[in-house]
Amino acid sequence: MAFTFFFRDVHTLQHAVNFLLPDIQGLRQIRIWDAGCAMGQEPYTFAILLAEKMGFFAYKNVMIDATDIDESDTFGKIITNGKYPEGDLSRIPIEYFQKYFHKAEDEDGIMEIDSQIKNRVVFKKHDLLELQPFRDDYNLIICKNVLLHFQPEDRIKVINMYHSVLAKGGLFVTEQTQPMPDENKHQFEKIVSDANLYRKIS
Ligand SMILES: C[S@@+](CC[C@H](N)C(=O)[O-])C[C@H]1O[C@@H](n2cnc3c(N)ncnc32)[C@H](O)[C@@H]1O
Repeated sequence: MAFTFFFRDVHTLQHAVNFLLPDIQGLRQIRIWDAGCAMGQEPYTFAILLAEKMGFFAYKNVMIDATDIDESDTFGKIITNGKYPEGDLSRIPIEYFQKYFHKAEDEDGIMEIDSQIKNRVVFKKHDLLELQPFRDDYNLIICKNVLLHFQPEDRIKVINMYHSVLAKGGLFVTEQTQPMPDENKHQFEKIVSDANLYRKIS
């Protein structure tokens, strides 16, 4: 269930970056929720894509809440350490790999993500189906390859929750094969034709 990899569906994530950037100009807190983040490959990919487009000081205002039900109770440690086997990083474009990863000390074959990126991502163990958001005012919610595992009625409730915790005009992105339930369509406007990227309708 926790299948994932770095730079998965980067096309969709890049769209989210491009639409997010004008929204967050001048904000002192930029809040992003990656719901169902697995072992961190997706939030770290997003953090790298953002770092490429943001100035050094503005980037420090970004906080990505990376959450997962984490049934194995291992994701938190992996994400907090930001260490991954080198073989798992082969899909990262070489220029980003060289720029944002270094060899972990005393650990053969393990690479560590730079603290500039690591410091932007905080893991929290969280079950989406409890419908208990822990924060609001998100500028962006990323929830990819998670909703498909839920019953249709739970999908609607979780998307309702996302709508309620997004800031005015906030963005929601999901995978391309995940249709927006009819019950949620009035809450979101699709803003690109080739990805499931939506803007909240207040
Ligand atoms: C296929 S992975 C997707 C990882 C990443 N979002 C991606 O697209 O590559 C699905 C993730 O959803 C998490 N998940 C499943 N049910 C959940 C729930 N009720 N609450 C939070 N996370 C859940 C799983 O633990 C798993 O890490």
